[in-house]
Amino acid sequence: MTGTVTLTIDGTNKSAKLPLIQGTIGPDVADIRKLYADLDLFTYDPGYGGTAACDSKITYIDGDQGVLLHRGYPIEQLATESTFLEVAYLLLNGELPTAAQNDEFHNGVMRHTMLHEQLRSFYSGFRRDAHPMAVMCGVVGALSAFYHDSLDINDPEHRRISAFRLIAKLPTIAAWAFKYSIGQPFVYPRNDLGYAENFLHMINAVPAETYHVSPVLAKAMDRILILHADHEQNASTSTVRLAGSTGANPFACIAAGIASLWGPAHGGANEAVLKMLGEIGHVKNIPAFIEKVKDKNSNVRLMGFGHRVYKNYDPRAKIMEQTCKEVLGELGIKDDPLLDLAMELERIALSDEYFISKKLYPNVDFYSGIILKAMGFPTSMFTVLFAVARTVGWISQWKEMIEDPSQRIGRPRQIYTGAGLRDYVPITARG
Ligand code: CMC
Repeated sequence: MTGTVTLTIDGTNKSAKLPLIQGTIGPDVADIRKLYADLDLFTYDPGYGGTAACDSKITYIDGDQGVLLHRGYPIEQLATESTFLEVAYLLLNGELPTAAQNDEFHNGVMRHTMLHEQLRSFYSGFRRDAHPMAVMCGVVGALSAFYHDSLDINDPEHRRISAFRLIAKLPTIAAWAFKYSIGQPFVYPRNDLGYAENFLHMINAVPAETYHVSPVLAKAMDRILILHADHEQNASTSTVRLAGSTGANPFACIAAGIASLWGPAHGGANEAVLKMLGEIGHVKNIPAFIEKVKDKNSNVRLMGFGHRVYKNYDPRAKIMEQTCKEVLGELGIKDDPLLDLAMELERIALSDEYFISKKLYPNVDFYSGIILKAMGFPTSMFTVLFAVARTVGWISQWKEMIEDPSQRIGRPRQIYTGAGLRDYVPITARG
């Protein structure tokens, strides 16, 4: 605590001293917990732009500088020097693992990759043309009906096993959602492969042929997963925390997170970017599209641009752009019209006063879809991949919350603007 801020209701002698709380880095935070009791006053903050809902040691973002740290480590270093499972260990446990811890964690996760065989039959309950995110919501939610032996949220061992299960099974669930949509047989996981390698294997292999995973593509997939692993208290993570604050089991909470991620303002943006690039079609159409985006009445947004917290380049977008070029190179794609279109769109947007004045920069979703499309993923799978990666962040944030002794049920208040008190009118007397 570094001091206080005094809040006075103008024209009265009513005031309250709010304690100031200081994090490791970042601005001070006024503690308003006693405001209602002291002043009979709520705060109003739709969208929570100025409200810290929790304290957390996992991820730090400086939106003005374009900085993203996980447990203090810059995303640029993690994306280029670490692996997804090592980052998962870091997010969950707070420190980078030793070699022995890393092996133990890797083996622990990979031993949980298979799904209960009865879960297979869940897939056939979906229409073939179901969006894979719909399948993800359903199958992940159903995990709590299958793994009763790890549902006690007050037991640390149950929490540990549930975390392993979620991190391990999400790629299998996602790959099977994809296989189901294209009518191919499900491919079982291979625990001798790396995490990203196994995922690509389950996506691309068929029982009739031997499939060799390209190490360059496996590395790129691993990096994409790292870049999406956690992002502080975004909408889906807040959803997971809110659901978890009631004592709901972790599988149910992650299913809630997946549903929240689906929207185009959040994880659904990567799919929306590709749709948008397809609609623009050609570089020559960019100026007209930009004009539409700038027209307040059009309701058209430049997807993959803008962020609630970043008022500078999203550091993940820079790495994603670099990865995009590496992947296209590995695949021998010399000229990708979509990449050309995206780069030109970015160039024009970044020099346009509308985007400059509103501090709108490319976010993580701007380039990821181009990479995933080049790797053979249909657009409907883009947000699914985001969900696979973000599961690590969600479960880390959920675990941190459950282990926080000051944790209470999440329960925002409101400004009531509806009708005042009135008496019921019998239907015969209503005019
Ligand atoms: N294109 C055009 N104008 C925009 C955009 C955009 N992509 N983003 C924000 N604006 C404008 C908006 O119209 C508003 O203008 P004004 O002040 O004149 O009304 C101003 O910028 C502030 O926008 P906002 O909606 O109040 O900002 P927000 O913090 O509530 O929204 C956002 C953040 C990410 C939802 C928004 O920027 C957006 O819709 N972006 C496109 C979707 C997208 O790429 N989402 C992925 C986010 S990153 C990954 C993730 O979270 O999953």
